[in-house]
Amino acid sequence: MIGDSPRAALQSTRARPPWGAEELEVLWEDEVTLADGGRIYVRVVRPSDRPTFEEGWTHLSAETRLFRFLAPRDHLSPGDLDYLTDLDGVDHYAIGAVTRDADGHEGPVAVARFVRMRDHPHEADFAVTVVDEYQRRGVGSVMLERLVVAALKRGITTLRADLLVENEAAKHLIRKVVPRAQSRLQGALVCFEIPLEAEEDPDREEPDREETA
Ligand SMILES: CC(C)(COP(=O)(O)OP(=O)(O)OC[C@H]1O[C@@H](n2cnc3c(N)ncnc32)[C@H](O)[C@@H]1OP(=O)(O)O)[C@@H](O)C(=O)NCCC(=O)NCCS
Repeated sequence: MIGDSPRAALQSTRARPPWGAEELEVLWEDEVTLADGGRIYVRVVRPSDRPTFEEGWTHLSAETRLFRFLAPRDHLSPGDLDYLTDLDGVDHYAIGAVTRDADGHEGPVAVARFVRMRDHPHEADFAVTVVDEYQRRGVGSVMLERLVVAALKRGITTLRADLLVENEAAKHLIRKVVPRAQSRLQGALVCFEIPLEAEEDPDREEPDREETA
């Protein structure tokens, strides 16, 4: 995977997750069967995922790296790896997807993260990355759907992403998962703004309804 980790939730020295269930969050894992039968495991990123990030980097084409970072990148520095894996789980949050073999070895598949904006605490920048051999198999959709739910639970009401105009895959992904997403052109970039709605949180409590006779 190319994401972060759940030490975030356990070791955060910053704000605690508001729902008070950070231990459950660390244990949370989704087993997902893709339409083509492939099986992946989605969970919060952990600091121990660092080697998986390094491996994942080698599974990203130059174009995937360019689309993710908006500039050519040929390596991840130790500082980059710290940043990508050392999360607080509230302001900087990420989930990763991995494969798992019979020995329990995990292989990199995808990561999705958001980083809360300092001056606009209800807004966050987000990114999804899928290793090349897993692209166009529904993984990006799985990751973005789950990231939206996690962002809502942490009080984010708007997700933002700046994409290179030619990044058709990401434009399709965002418009598919959140059709009301808005976008505007800014030079070589298309800037997406995704307003989140409580309906996207499957755990939300139904509002009280007035009884009618
Ligand atoms: C963008 C990205 C995450 C999409 O991941 P993915 O796993 O391929 O996405 P999915 O398979 O869930 O596809 C989502 C939708 O986009 C469409 N799509 C995917 N790649 C496409 C492409 N290259 N051109 C056109 N449509 C594409 C899919 O067909 C699907 O739509 P559909 O269900 O209506 O057919 C992946 O391409 C990637 O990692 N790109 C590099 C990093 C990046 O650009 N990140 C964007 C930052 S948000």
